[in-house]
Amino acid sequence: MLKMLNLFREDVLFLVQNKYDIALVAFLSIATYAFLKARRKVNTSNKEDKIPGGLGLPFVGETFSFLSATNSTRGCYDFVRLRRKWYGKWFKTRMFGKIHVFVPSIEAAKKVFTNDFGEFNKGYIKSMATVVGEKSVFAVPIESHTRIRHVLSALFSMSSLSKFVEKFDQMLSQRLNKLEQNGKTFPVLPFTMKLTLDSMCNMLMSITEESLLQQILSDCAAVSDALLSVPLMIPGTTYYKGMKARQRLMEIFKEMIARRRSGKEYKDDFLQYLLERDSCPSSEKLEDSEIMDNLLTLLVSGQVSSAAAMMWSVKFLDENGEVLDKLREEQLDIAKNKQRGTSLSMEDINRMSYGLKVVKETLRMSNVVLWLPRVAQNDCTLDGVEMKKGWIVNVDATCIHFDPALYEDPMQFIPSRFDEMQKPYSFLPFGAGPRTCLGIEMAKLSMLVFLHRLTSGYEWTIEERDPSMEKTTHVPRLRSGLPITLKALTKNGK
Ligand code: HEM
Repeated sequence: MLKMLNLFREDVLFLVQNKYDIALVAFLSIATYAFLKARRKVNTSNKEDKIPGGLGLPFVGETFSFLSATNSTRGCYDFVRLRRKWYGKWFKTRMFGKIHVFVPSIEAAKKVFTNDFGEFNKGYIKSMATVVGEKSVFAVPIESHTRIRHVLSALFSMSSLSKFVEKFDQMLSQRLNKLEQNGKTFPVLPFTMKLTLDSMCNMLMSITEESLLQQILSDCAAVSDALLSVPLMIPGTTYYKGMKARQRLMEIFKEMIARRRSGKEYKDDFLQYLLERDSCPSSEKLEDSEIMDNLLTLLVSGQVSSAAAMMWSVKFLDENGEVLDKLREEQLDIAKNKQRGTSLSMEDINRMSYGLKVVKETLRMSNVVLWLPRVAQNDCTLDGVEMKKGWIVNVDATCIHFDPALYEDPMQFIPSRFDEMQKPYSFLPFGAGPRTCLGIEMAKLSMLVFLHRLTSGYEWTIEERDPSMEKTTHVPRLRSGLPITLKALTKNGK
């Protein structure tokens, strides 16, 4: 009864917070249900019932409750948290016409990721493939995936990453300095969003013109918002705005490629590297449409997650003074051996052993990628639990990261826990298996440079501690953006 009341409350909340996109989902869900009901009987075999959970109405299921959580300041993981309280660690639900099982164990995670592209596969919703592009490494089948991933990996070579560190460090240092000088409070999130995007635009395509960077920033935000939207080209919807933003971005990339191909422009960057591979065998190069979709993929996948993780690191350090002191000590020691104004080198980064643990602990606790969805290609068992073909298996990285059997005092921010090796598949911020994040090293490096400049150069005050989460986003972020004010440290670090 209590559960039912809770469910009802969630649905009412959904109606109160109703948005245009969500109303569309409601309409489409009911229409599709009526259509499906007329065509076939809905499958409710006994196997489904072995995993606890509420499937709700056929097709619609708990879609509205999920959307309600996503559209609230509690964040979309609240939907999972609540059901885990009701049903236990394993539970199933039905959303958008599909049965989802939330998978909380490392044994199951191992099976899913070692059988990715085989027994399990990514089942992208249409919006994701069309907005980011059908040739994106996110959306292509295995044959193209291996080739595209291989070509893109050059961006993350040692020499390429050292150049990135230098550039990122210069940009960051100048911007922090300016912010401190003008003494104003600023929210960390928009700052890190712009910083990460600008640095990637620079590395990928040598874009430095401010008006163009601003346009790319707002268009990438629209694309990112549209990734999990209802794929209907109706003006005003998130999907429509995302598709329009995609078209503008494609136009920018296309013109840039044309200028480079005609010889009117030459820049020493990743785009040039890709274009110069024209004479390579087809297994070693990308077509222009693949280049464009994957430039967008790299921008979108790298920006939001890294920027959010940086924001969370500021919050966690502020709440854990001892950790901050220890990190600052390490970073000041690195800073004192460097001449003022010189950029960090890879050797400096390699000395940040405590910094790296702070980065890992931030990623464990912030869970910027909450869970990793795959579709079961056949009936199978995961950790002894039966799954059926077509079910969505959500490897719940958040649940694994907060499992007290894997991490002692999981709700505490304790970087030194990473002194010990983690159990395989217990640390999943970057996923695992053949689809592991391509940008792991770049993400860690940019977080380390960020922490270095912040802690060795400044102390800060958080001006607003509202814990509300940003609405309608799949990446957990504080709604306030975490406003802070900086104060420069004096020479002796005080
Ligand atoms: C803190 C920052 C980051 C986090 C937490 C993160 C997390 C992830 C995760 C969990 C996946 C796997 C998704 C899945 O298996 O379904 C992934 C994939 C990916 N990430 Fe990242 N990422 C970060 C930064 C970056 C950066 C900086 C880039 C590049 C500039 C990047 C590029 C990619 C790409 C291209 C994929 C797709 C790989 C494939 O499908 O083969 N990521 N990321």
